[in-house]
Parts: sequence; structure tokens; C-alpha cells
Amino acid sequence: MGLNITEKIISAHLLNGEMEPGTEVGLRIDQTLTQDATGTMAYLQFEAMGIDKVQTELSVSYVDHNTLQMGFRNPDDHQYLRTVAAKHGVVFSPAGTGICHQLHLENFAKPGKTLIGSDSHTPTAGGLGMLAMGAGGLSVALAMAGQPYSIPMPKVVKVELSGKLTGWASAKDIILKLLELKTVKGGVGKVFEFAGEGVKTLSVPERAVITNMGAELGATTSIFPSDENTKAFLKAMGREEDWSELIADADATYAEVVEINLSELEPLVAQPHMPDRVVTVKSLAGLKVNQSAIGSCTNSSYSDLKTTALILQDQQLPEGVDLMISPGSKQVLKMLASDGLIANFIDSGARLLECTCGPCIGMGGSPTSAGVSVRTFNRNFEGRSGTQDAQVYLASPQTAAKLALAGEFTDPATWGTPPAKIDFPEEVPSIRHLFIFPPENRAEVEIVRGPNIVPLETFSALPDQISSEIRLKVEDDITTDHILPAGAQITALRSNIPAISEYIFSRVDEGFVGRMKAADNGIILGGENYGQGSSREHAALGPRHLGVVAVITKSLARIHRANLVNFGILPLVLSEKSDYDKLSEGSKLTIDTTTITPGGETVVMADGAEIKVKNDLSTKELEIIKAGGLLNYVGKQL
Ligand code: F3S
Repeated sequence: MGLNITEKIISAHLLNGEMEPGTEVGLRIDQTLTQDATGTMAYLQFEAMGIDKVQTELSVSYVDHNTLQMGFRNPDDHQYLRTVAAKHGVVFSPAGTGICHQLHLENFAKPGKTLIGSDSHTPTAGGLGMLAMGAGGLSVALAMAGQPYSIPMPKVVKVELSGKLTGWASAKDIILKLLELKTVKGGVGKVFEFAGEGVKTLSVPERAVITNMGAELGATTSIFPSDENTKAFLKAMGREEDWSELIADADATYAEVVEINLSELEPLVAQPHMPDRVVTVKSLAGLKVNQSAIGSCTNSSYSDLKTTALILQDQQLPEGVDLMISPGSKQVLKMLASDGLIANFIDSGARLLECTCGPCIGMGGSPTSAGVSVRTFNRNFEGRSGTQDAQVYLASPQTAAKLALAGEFTDPATWGTPPAKIDFPEEVPSIRHLFIFPPENRAEVEIVRGPNIVPLETFSALPDQISSEIRLKVEDDITTDHILPAGAQITALRSNIPAISEYIFSRVDEGFVGRMKAADNGIILGGENYGQGSSREHAALGPRHLGVVAVITKSLARIHRANLVNFGILPLVLSEKSDYDKLSEGSKLTIDTTTITPGGETVVMADGAEIKVKNDLSTKELEIIKAGGLLNYVGKQL
């Protein structure tokens, strides 16, 4: 029987396990990436393993999140990242060079290879035919140490694209459509593999928009074939030798097929505060717009920003509307500059920001109170913009630019003729010299640790008996932004766990940290899809520092579940969802951890009554939790 693309890459990288959906497979990882907000911790963890040089084909450390240098914390982190990269054979990308995923796509991604990154939008590289997955920083550190990366063998969903985008519809509308169809929970345990005639009509940057935001489906990853368009993109980047063809066999099978006709798509928008609350742009006509932001790892390619510049040509923003533009990389910025298109931004009144994540992670550019902001980003969770009551809508660059110029939502039928599709240039200027490649004399490199670099904490093993209380009960769809908010002040503390733990659940329940400190241990009760959103392992590490021993939910998001395991917190799921209503803050729970078996069901005493919880842990994952986390477990193995 033939193989699909996902199965081809997995079988070529399989170190252990069987390719049976749902069973654990261990994969050889060719490349890793980190960004600064998760990377400082990942490199501290890598150092703790005592390995001289990364074991991957390529590892890159990007600085794109905390680039504001207000005070010593971020510059100290960047200095540590630069020197620890040089010491251990990692390529370093300094602040301002670009956003990790855009840079990785342009400079390092290779078809048929595996990549894990300590950022949930690592699947961006799937646009180039790579099996690219978001992971916790510790998993990335282990991959750098040459350890396999374990995932449940995913089910593969074929997304059959037919037709061709027309009018104002764009690649962003394809992924918004898929989110509308499948929702933010629809991709758990799955890879979305794109196929069909419509694929040939999409360039690599367009494909990367789709695989990037595929993360919002909760998917393991998304992937496109590597074809002539991929070859043309790599050739333009000056690395045609990195190309190889990768297509599914004609008789490949899939767990499910979804069909999307590109010719039928029209501009769409995700409404506050979830990426799957998708409606047509025209259905919101009349809604005032205060701000638009164009950029982020989703929509900051050359073609996205050239299209934006053409829409803005000879136009001026209305008074009171703020438009921010962040190019995804200095390569994009350089290309726009040599085309003379920066003048279009300047003359329109738009603000040109640095080539970083910026407003996407609340680093500046927050909307006004209750302001409507149309953003080309991938997430619109409440408060993520830095303004708690802002109303953030997710849309394409075309839509964001047109709505900013109008100062309100309008019907795309009134927008006139769209700019012609931007063909990717045959040759683009290289910015490769801006990366810092590891030196020959690594032994002489001194790692510089400023006061913001705090040594790792060691955690104790899981006790045989947990007698604790529910210290916090939360609703469905709690995101990692709820658990640990983003924003300049907080993310600057990512290498300082005691300091950052003070903010755990601070925007959900101000008393949580105090209750944990008073009691020394506790359990969190969550609803459906607990921990969705970013890969930030601090959302597990912070609770662990405070003494959280177990999280009991109706269901758990994939990366957060893995992070809980990595830091020795039991991820348990209620066997009967109705038991959620019987439990409350202050409920006393007793768990005999010796009765927990991989994939089994366990009886928990809750306020004197029995409830049942289940887990989907593998034998190894349970051993990791019992050891007190992955670092302790690996320490025992090495
Ligand atoms: Fe950065 Fe936002 Fe992407 S924080 S990596 S631009 S999702």
C-alpha cells in the first residue's frame, strides 16, 4: 500500500514504535529551532545534560519575541543565547533579523526533513514539505542532545484543494475556512496534508500561511508536497540544492478527507476571541475599525507586504486609525526597500515596525480600550494584544489594509480590483551573513550569564500518595495565555522561574498564587481543551514551581499535555465529564499514584466520594512523571 507524505517522512525517521495511529513513535529530529522567550530555558536544560555539541544536522536560536530592550533583562537573555549558541554549535539569529518561522522558511527549511521548535507555529515550515512540529523547550533540548522526539502516531487528514483563489480571497481565507470547518479542537492527533490541483496554484509563502495557522486546529502539524513551486522558491533563495521532490503515492490512504474549492472562497475573518469564530467580512459591514496590524509569522512575507503596499499606494489612513506593519525578515524589508515600496507605507501614514513578533505577543501596538483591531496574526485570544477588552479580528493582509483605509468593515464587493497576484521573484537578496554561525574554536567561548539567567530548579519525584486540594477551577478553552499571560513585563522573566511564577493565572484569579504558596501543593481542575495555544512550557513550569501536582480536566491540548509530563505534573482526564460539576475549589482529593497505569483508569477519592479519572500516558511518560520530570528521567538514563 502506498504512503502519504507524512508517513514517508515518519518512516524515514522512525527510531522506535509502530506507525499505528495513536501509538507512540520516536522520531529522529534533523533540525531544531528556538525563539528567545522559550529558548533561554531550553538552553539551560541542554546545558544541564552536559553535552558538548548539538547532535542535530542544524539547530538555530532566534531572537524575535522579547526584542524591546527596556532594562537589563532582555539584553542579558540575548547575550546568554548568543554565547551559549556559539559554545554548543547552534546558529544564532540576533534581535531584529526577523521572525523565527519566516527566517527558517527562507534560510534553513528542507523538504523531507524533521524539525521541532519551541514555538507552536513551527509547522510553518510544513509549507515547504517539512514535518515541522511545535514542542516544549525541554523536548527541543533533548532533540538537540540527540534523543528521539516522541509523539502519538498521527492520523493523516487529506485536504483536497480544487479550483483557484479569485478576487480578494487569499491563502489566509483557506486556513480560516478550514478552522470554520474543523474548529480549534478538530486537529488533535492529526496531520493535515494538502493535495489536489489547487495546491499547484499556491506559492511556498502562501502554503506557509496555511501550515502556520494550522496550529490553531490543535493539529500535530500541517504539510504540503514538495513540488516545482517548492523548487522555484528554494532556487530564489539561492539554495536549489536543498530541494527534493516529495509527493504522496497515488494509492496513499488517509483517515479522513476534507474538500475545499478555492474558487468559492471570499474574504473571511475570525471574530473575538477564538480563531475558529469565522464569518465573512461582508457580514460585519459597518463595524468601526480602530487599528490594523499586518505582520507576524503568519502573514509577513514579501508577497503579503508587497500586496499591502500596492493597496496603500496613493491612499491615506483616516484620522484615528492606526496601521502597523512588521516585515517578517530583513530579507523581506530589503526587497520592499529595493522595490521602492516603503514609500507607500510612509505616505499612507502607516507605522513600520521592526522585523519581530511585536504586537502579536503584546510587545507594543496594543489597541485602545474596547478597540476593534484587525490583525493578520494567528491568534485573537482575550487580552493577548495587551488590552484586556480589545476586540481582535483575524484576517488577511488584503482585508486588514482595506478595512484600515475604510475605518470600518465594508463589503469586499466594493473594494474594486485587487492587486495582481505577486509572483515570487526569481532571485532575492541574501541576508545569510546576518546569522552568527558557530566558531571553530568553541572551546574558547565563554557563556555570559547576567543576573536574569537563574539556574534551573530540581524537582522531587512524584509521591505515592497525593493528598491535596483543588486550588483553582477553570472553565473550558483555557489557553496558555490565561495560565501565563504574555506581554513585555512578564516575558522578560522567562529565564527566571521563581519571578515569572508570580504571574501564573494572574488574569484569571489573583488569589491563585497566594493559595498555592500557603498550601505548598495543589490540583487544578480544568474544562475542555485545557492549555490550548502556545507551546510555552512556562505554563507548566510555573505551576510546578508553585507545587501543582496534577491537572484534572475534561480534555487537554496536545503541547501543554506534553509540557505537563515533562515537568512531572499528572495530566488526568475525568472519566465522567459530569463529575466536573461535583468538584469545586477546596475539594479534597486523594490519589494513590501507585495505582495509575499507562492508559488506565484510576479511582480518586474526592471529598470522601469516588470519582474516576483516566490518562493517555505511555509507559515512558508515566515513568517521566514519577521521576519528577523529564530532566530527572534523562539524568537516570544517561
Ligand atoms: Fe511570534 Fe506571534 Fe508567531 S509571537 S512566532 S509572530 S505567533
